[in-house]
Amino acid sequence: MTNHDQKRLLLIGGSSGIGRAIALAALERGDQPIIGARDPERTASALPEALRGVPLVHADLADERSIAVLAQEGPFDAVVSLAAASANGPVATLERAAVHAAFDAKVVGPMLLAKHLADSMRPGGVFVFFSGVAAWKPAPGLSAMATVNGAVAFMAEALAVELAPVRAVAVSPGVVDSGLWDFMGDDGKREFFAATAASNPARRIGAPADIADAVLFAVDDTFLTGTTLHVDGGGRLG
Ligand SMILES: NC(=O)c1ccc[n+]([C@@H]2O[C@H](COP(=O)([O-])OP(=O)(O)OC[C@H]3O[C@@H](n4cnc5c(N)ncnc54)[C@H](OP(=O)(O)O)[C@@H]3O)[C@@H](O)[C@H]2O)c1
Repeated sequence: MTNHDQKRLLLIGGSSGIGRAIALAALERGDQPIIGARDPERTASALPEALRGVPLVHADLADERSIAVLAQEGPFDAVVSLAAASANGPVATLERAAVHAAFDAKVVGPMLLAKHLADSMRPGGVFVFFSGVAAWKPAPGLSAMATVNGAVAFMAEALAVELAPVRAVAVSPGVVDSGLWDFMGDDGKREFFAATAASNPARRIGAPADIADAVLFAVDDTFLTGTTLHVDGGGRLG
């Protein structure tokens, strides 16, 4: 059963990429997004016009104190954690600090969101944690991120049981043109996206709105918990 009453969505990392698409989609349907960002002042100046009136709060998933005070912003119907820190490269070259930062952003920080905000959730509320296709499609150089993203999926299952009836869902995007890949440059990005689309059952890469749709589905469907939504164009199979 779905419910379209106005909902309060805390979006950690909601100012850019996929998070921004969720904020825009939520606003468009009359929900109340609240954006959590590490640097709210810098973030405010970079927000698109449509998001200018949205409340911005300080949130750093590597800092438990900043997580604990978020309870003051409740109650919430959804707490969505989009934060990520990359730890890519051959395992022989991985820096311990980078691996820790990756776990902090996607696993430890989100677990602390559950610790501090579970009591701030409205009935039917959900924690949405961001995983990623690398967990289901390991490749050389992606071992750390595969492990982190896999942990996110198991965390959603464990917390769904422990926090019930508060829900927990993981969303696992495939390759999405969110801005994340801009470091490759125009040509590099074009080649990477074309190769990814060619090997992908959906035969395209994702748009931020594809993932936003899945997140709002997870917010609305109160029978959905303890699972991972694979919004990856089938990329884990191709
Ligand atoms: N795009 C893809 O192809 C893809 C594929 C698989 C999975 N994903 C996952 O989807 C999620 C969203 O990615 P995206 O593509 O939208 O990238 P993005 O634009 O870089 O989004 C990440 C957001 O998290 C924020 N953030 C980073 N560390 C944080 C921390 N410690 N505390 C609070 N906020 C923090 C960043 O904000 P600031 O740095 O400005 O503070 C940024 O707004 C990520 O978890 C990513 O791993 C994306």
